Amino acid sequence: MSTPSPASSASTHASSASPSAAQLVAEVDRGFDASTARLVDFLRIPSVSTDPAYDGETRRCAEWLVGELRGLGFEAEAAKTIGHPMVVAHHPGVGADAAKRPRILYYGHYDVQPADPLELWTSPPFEPAIVEGPRGKRVVARGAVDDKGQVMGIVEALRAWKALAGGPPCPVTLMIEGEEESGSKSLEPFMHAAKDRLAADVCVVSDTGMWDIATPAITTRLRGLVYMEVTVHGPSRDLHSGMYGGAVPNPINVLARILSELHDVDRRITIPGFYDGVGELPPTTRAQWESLGFSDSEFLGDIGLQDGFGEKGRSTLERTWSRPTCDVNGIFGGYTGKGAKTVIAAHATAKVSFRLVSRQDPAKIAAAFEEFVRSRLPAGCRAEFESHGANAAIEVSESSRYLVAADAGLKAVFGKAPLLIGTGGSIPAVGAIQRILGMDSLLVGFGLDDDCVHSPNEKFELACYQNAIRSHAAMLGEFARLSR
Ligand code: BES
Ligand code: MN
Ligand code: MN
Repeated sequence: MSTPSPASSASTHASSASPSAAQLVAEVDRGFDASTARLVDFLRIPSVSTDPAYDGETRRCAEWLVGELRGLGFEAEAAKTIGHPMVVAHHPGVGADAAKRPRILYYGHYDVQPADPLELWTSPPFEPAIVEGPRGKRVVARGAVDDKGQVMGIVEALRAWKALAGGPPCPVTLMIEGEEESGSKSLEPFMHAAKDRLAADVCVVSDTGMWDIATPAITTRLRGLVYMEVTVHGPSRDLHSGMYGGAVPNPINVLARILSELHDVDRRITIPGFYDGVGELPPTTRAQWESLGFSDSEFLGDIGLQDGFGEKGRSTLERTWSRPTCDVNGIFGGYTGKGAKTVIAAHATAKVSFRLVSRQDPAKIAAAFEEFVRSRLPAGCRAEFESHGANAAIEVSESSRYLVAADAGLKAVFGKAPLLIGTGGSIPAVGAIQRILGMDSLLVGFGLDDDCVHSPNEKFELACYQNAIRSHAAMLGEFARLSR
């Protein structure tokens, strides 16, 4: 037990009855400065999973988290995988009733995106800075909101439960991965191998956003993702563009033309069969989204734009939550240094990603893209493809009893009910958890649109962090009222 606080000393019967939401919130608030200090320690470790130069730090980060969870009475380890360690931890729950209550699996990730371009950060990405913003204090660091701050939202909620009740009221397992930002190669093999340890009744994922700083949200739709890298090869070596130019295929010109043909004038994607399985929005969902009062001007104004752009005849919310996309994420080849060099490069590469919705089939989309490119190559060129992942879209039930319980917990913290929203992002684990472990996920996240996810100066509002901890504590209390 930690130092008694007004909230915990008021509940001297805490060992017999479960703490109330108000008692949990008071306990979270009492410890919030220390929770922030621990988040800062976590953020200091540069766990960039995609870059092998950070492998040692990524492991150290996993071990740091294991240390925290052991301190909370969990049996925890940084489990070996074919890639970065998986942090797995388990607590059977306190009291004789715990075994009758739903088993909760929490999923999140401790790895982060690379921090570049470094020169655009106002403070070093792995030296977390607590700075004053228009909505109070915020922590600025790579991983602040995606996903270390949200993982600590869960960990610190478990700490409040330990302080007030000796541990969580339900059996709790955590699976915190170290490869979410770099393709999750170990995730499925690990889940197959550890199926028994990961058994639970519901998975709670905290890696998404809120509606706004005062309004919580439960995300019920995630887009899928097909990510392909394509290299067009032409001449057998780089050439003088005067000697050869005009008489040979230029792989950069060829690739640029093909990429430009991926969209038509209405910004629909032209790959044959691409829209197979794309459903129209049910009228009730459309009406609910319209009632949200989404502001195009706020969403676009924040990124320096005025007008939306995308598939003709669709709103911004539809375009990001329920329509598929094709975006070139990177393109390179030839001379990119200073000044001019007259050269025809031997090859050119593009990284192309597709966001998928409804029942679009990732394997079919990947194959159709390859065919789209190959069928447009001139004689003398060939294309090579590499896949960086393929995941279908996810829709989760809007009426599960866990969602109803989460709704009650969030109401107790925010004084209002969460909105049901979609997101344009992807979390491959959610589909794998459904397929391999056979359970639905409940997506409750605490990010804001302007958190600069994956960008320089990523931040997490401390108000969001505090509400994340409070909410996870209160939601766990609500889950514990259900029987298995
Ligand atoms: N947390 C994000 C997903 C996300 C982003 C959810 C924005 C809600 C709003 C996650 O870490 C992520 O970045 N996912 C990647 C996919 C992954 C395979 C690299 C994405 O969506 O690009
Ligand atoms: Mn994330
Ligand atoms: Mn991410």
